[in-house]
Amino acid sequence: MGLMVYLNRVQFARGAIATLAEELALAGIVRPLLVTDAGIVAAGLLDRIRAVLPAAMSIAVFDAVPPNPTEAAVRAATRAFLAHGADGVIGLGGGSPLDLAKAVALLATHGGDSLAPYAVIEGGLARITDRCAPVVAIPTTSGTGSEVSRGALIVLDDGRKLSIGSPYLIPRAAICDPDLTLGLPPLLTAGTGMDALAHCVETLCSPRVNPIAAAIARDGLARAWRALPLAVADGADADAREAMMLASMQGALAFQKGLGAVHALSHPLGGLAVPLHHGTLNAVLLPHVLRFNAPNIASVLPILATAMDEPEGAELLADAIAAMSRIIGLPATLAEMGVPESVLPAIAAAAMLDHHHLTNPRRATQADYLALLRTAHAGE
Ligand SMILES: [Fe+2]
Repeated sequence: MGLMVYLNRVQFARGAIATLAEELALAGIVRPLLVTDAGIVAAGLLDRIRAVLPAAMSIAVFDAVPPNPTEAAVRAATRAFLAHGADGVIGLGGGSPLDLAKAVALLATHGGDSLAPYAVIEGGLARITDRCAPVVAIPTTSGTGSEVSRGALIVLDDGRKLSIGSPYLIPRAAICDPDLTLGLPPLLTAGTGMDALAHCVETLCSPRVNPIAAAIARDGLARAWRALPLAVADGADADAREAMMLASMQGALAFQKGLGAVHALSHPLGGLAVPLHHGTLNAVLLPHVLRFNAPNIASVLPILATAMDEPEGAELLADAIAAMSRIIGLPATLAEMGVPESVLPAIAAAAMLDHHHLTNPRRATQADYLALLRTAHAGE
């Protein structure tokens, strides 16, 4: 066993957004930069946040976070942070704004204008210190759990989508208000929800020993499996929305145990020029990865089956996950998502370098990854 980190401050309740001013004060933030995207602004969520903040508070807003956050966008937001004389960051939105908020908290306080030295696979962990600016995270989707995790995924200038991670990047506070997700459209609810589900499944399959994480992942999987179709079918179902927000947080609390091939493959796919939704990629990949991992997860399969209340066996569980994706309206193949077949060899090569490759329960070769990608592309 190794380092286990639980928990930052989490305000979890319908209406929890009312605690924002108090949480900013506790984090020592008086001049925040608020990081979000255009969709959040258009949905009126930025106005709802402003309404609960003191009128006199000086807030700068960076609302140009791309669907997959880029190093260039981090630089632009960092300039906004410095120009405002900000002392902390509010991340508002799905995984992309929250991850970008963390990256700004890092870059604005650590000098330089490149994120590559801070990437996990470049030995970045040792370079990230307690100088990071404080972050308060407000999720508006239920999937990444970035509000309680130490990581940020950024597409670097060279096209690699890399993870930057440090305990110092865990937000000081997470404000989990499921009411903020009530307006999320069905397809985004489905895609983000499958990310949460994939976090729980991959955590349980990871060979690392962390019984606490495994227990959280088991509970999160059961919760997400029950609630996801309900949240997709009726976006106004407050109980399902609350369950999904909790499952999303649980997935991220648990995945310090390690993710696997689903994420090793979806990260490079997420770095392609054509924007591909992370959770939807995971939904497509997960059944194929379960089948591939089958020989090495015999002890985990009964745990998955019990949590999902589905028949035991890798094949049956893979089928059940594919059926869930169908029911909630997600595509079945990478081809349907618009992934060109020509990129698959490069994706297989890049997956070998992703840090989640190392915690997949069955060690994959580049040829294994390519075969898996081809199957997921064609939907065989
Ligand atoms: Fe994920």
